[in-house]
Amino acid sequence: MNTVTLPAYAKLNLTLDILGKRADGYHELATVMQSVTLHDDVTVTLTECSGIVCRCGTLPGDESNLAVRAAKAFFAGTGIAPRGLAIDVEKRIPTQAGMAGGSSDAAAVLHALRALLAPGMTVQELETLGEQVGSDVPYCVRGGTALAEGRGEKLTTLKAAPRFHVVVCKPDFSVSTPVLFRRSDASEITDRPDTAGMLDAIEAGDASGVAARVFNVFEAVLAQAEQKAVFSIRETLLALGASAAAMTGSGPTVFGLFTGLHQAQLAYHHLKRSYQQTFLSEFV
Ligand code: C5P
Repeated sequence: MNTVTLPAYAKLNLTLDILGKRADGYHELATVMQSVTLHDDVTVTLTECSGIVCRCGTLPGDESNLAVRAAKAFFAGTGIAPRGLAIDVEKRIPTQAGMAGGSSDAAAVLHALRALLAPGMTVQELETLGEQVGSDVPYCVRGGTALAEGRGEKLTTLKAAPRFHVVVCKPDFSVSTPVLFRRSDASEITDRPDTAGMLDAIEAGDASGVAARVFNVFEAVLAQAEQKAVFSIRETLLALGASAAAMTGSGPTVFGLFTGLHQAQLAYHHLKRSYQQTFLSEFV
């Protein structure tokens, strides 16, 4: 076997809380993450050439691509002699969207390299390698429903959350994650998610309890124009029957959770008319 293709799933933050700033400049988080079926396809092939060739749609395939960084971290971390690699990413997850598209590609590269070169490695070992690549990578290695704490690397796997259909909609601008974290430092966070309540609702399989607790503290620190755009999509999703709607990660993508497929389809078609990057998905 010299080639592996794996799906790289997007994630949503069902809750996202910032607990404080750390001495290392990162922020202490408590966030409940959920994989959704929207995914990139990542193919890793061992080649006879030296070096890594990465093709990733219109994105650069250089060291700035987390997929490339993951491959380098794999060889550096395992001590396995670097091999020539071709990494081909078929992108579907919107970029700079708060859906961990790049981190998920990186996680898929780690899984693919394990399958090709180090089948004895544990998922935990892959997660540890992923930490060096980015804060969301360990979660993306694991996937499913999980609580992420610390910088994002302290993971607790949760019972699979009650399944929802999901409409995700990315407005046509991007938000800088470090800038949003800095804004959160400068303003007092008054409204926070009920993380403990979310964990209980997930454990109990209580879909309406989950929906009632969807909340992201980053929404409060968006610039005014960004907030207006995000809130407008959120209101549209709720008006069209979503049980909950919120921004994911550092945005600006907004997601709506729907119990019924038909309503989710109607909302998808409605938003798709105004926002090209609208997708219909569901919990993995
Ligand atoms: O770890 P990653 O490179 O994905 O993080 C991107 C940026 O997001 C960091 O440089 C930092 O500014 C911010 N960040 C943070 N606290 C976290 C995760 C990310 O401040 N827990």
